[in-house]
Amino acid sequence: MTKALASIGRGFVCLDARFRIVHASELVDRLLQPGAAEELRGRDIEDMLGADLFGQDGPLRQALIKGERREGWRATLQFRGAGPSLVSLTVAPLQAESPGVCDSRIAYIVVLRPAAEEEVPDSGGPTFFSGAIAASPAMLQIFRLIENLRQSEATVLITGESGTGKEVVARAIHQHSPRHEGPFIAVNCGALPGELLESELFGHARGAFTGAHRDRVGRFELASKGTLFLDEIGDLPPPFQVKLLRVLQERTYERVGESESRMSDARIIAATNVDLRRALAEGRLREDLYYRLRVVPIDVPPLRRRREDVQPLANHLLTRASSQHGLVKRLSPQAMRVLLDYSWPGNIRELANAIEYAVAVSRKETILPEDLPAEVLKPHAEAAPADPPGPPEPPRRKAGGPEMERILAALQAHRWNREEAAHALGLHRSTLWRKMREFRL
Ligand SMILES: Nc1ncnc2c1ncn2[C@@H]1O[C@H](COP(=O)(O)OP(=O)(O)OP(=O)(O)O)[C@@H](O)[C@H]1O
Ligand SMILES: [Mg+2]
Repeated sequence: MTKALASIGRGFVCLDARFRIVHASELVDRLLQPGAAEELRGRDIEDMLGADLFGQDGPLRQALIKGERREGWRATLQFRGAGPSLVSLTVAPLQAESPGVCDSRIAYIVVLRPAAEEEVPDSGGPTFFSGAIAASPAMLQIFRLIENLRQSEATVLITGESGTGKEVVARAIHQHSPRHEGPFIAVNCGALPGELLESELFGHARGAFTGAHRDRVGRFELASKGTLFLDEIGDLPPPFQVKLLRVLQERTYERVGESESRMSDARIIAATNVDLRRALAEGRLREDLYYRLRVVPIDVPPLRRRREDVQPLANHLLTRASSQHGLVKRLSPQAMRVLLDYSWPGNIRELANAIEYAVAVSRKETILPEDLPAEVLKPHAEAAPADPPGPPEPPRRKAGGPEMERILAALQAHRWNREEAAHALGLHRSTLWRKMREFRL
């Protein structure tokens, strides 16, 4: 059976009750490297599919512990130097329905398939891509691009508003590059004045300037065999732009106070939240440098233009924030609704802050709308219709009960897509609508 499935590109990983790998099928060898499946035996599934999903508080570990299955999630498979490789995942507790597949130690089963085979993810689960989480078509397209770049060392320019995840994307590119075993060195170019920036990036010789007591290795050198991430590239001083252009073109540079040229072997990824076209038009950015940086441009859209990401990100950030406090928290559907409706000018960083705030102030296990920061809540309060005069206000929410819970769970599982949720519940769309109104969801 394993063989037959492998030929159509599916594989299994069988786990014991402590999430250790009892058996990994040969697809894992093909996706990683020969011998990987054997080497993985006895290790935690987390070593292969990452802590975001399978760490102590990871959503897939938690679902399995609760005896639930999850379908259509996507994650990067990685082990030692091999991978990462994007796979589609279904996880399930092993029940009587699959007898004879594995032995009695097996508590859970993970079915995987190379995600490259599917154009569109088959169901609505989120994708965990080397530290970046998303469900929106726009971000999934960026993940696909990163996968396609995996053999490349081309210079990448990442643009996007503050807090959209440019650094997360840069790290994912590095993780998926031929240099993933080398270092990822980040430099915030915006934070340093010209001279300091030069010595930071290129290094300096002893005595090059007051205070230079010894030779210093620059970031270009530290990043050799790896990736140099030049963040906040939008406002580089013009003399420095010339020097940077030279490294990009000729791969040579000198340490400050030294005449000997050095060769750079660093892959460059640059990022900015500044509108570079405007910087070009205003003469603040050299055109030749711009085009040298922009070999592969990636624009990370603001969160308000990829609402599908709000829920998976919120859940992930909540897990992260609450486990830091040793708590278990969840977002009430109403609080999630507020998060989905807000415009997030500060993007994911603002979302992370809002969640941390809510974890800190909420008294109960469930985070309610009023636990969210005022600015997130405010537009919602303003948009809500005023109390009708005269007749008493209907109850805020009918005592929900199991039906409401069931509807809620379905809506969440289908990212508030009513059509899909109705289908999953076996209800007519208009019935679901009516019930949502009734329960004030
Ligand atoms: N897709 C994502 N999945 C998980 N976490 C994310 C994602 N995008 C961003 N984050 C988190 O949001 C925060 C901001 O991300 P990041 O630092 O990459 O943004 P940025 O675009 O570089 O922002 P800035 O322009 O302000 O430097 C970080 O804590 C990061 O971990
Ligand atoms: Mg950044």
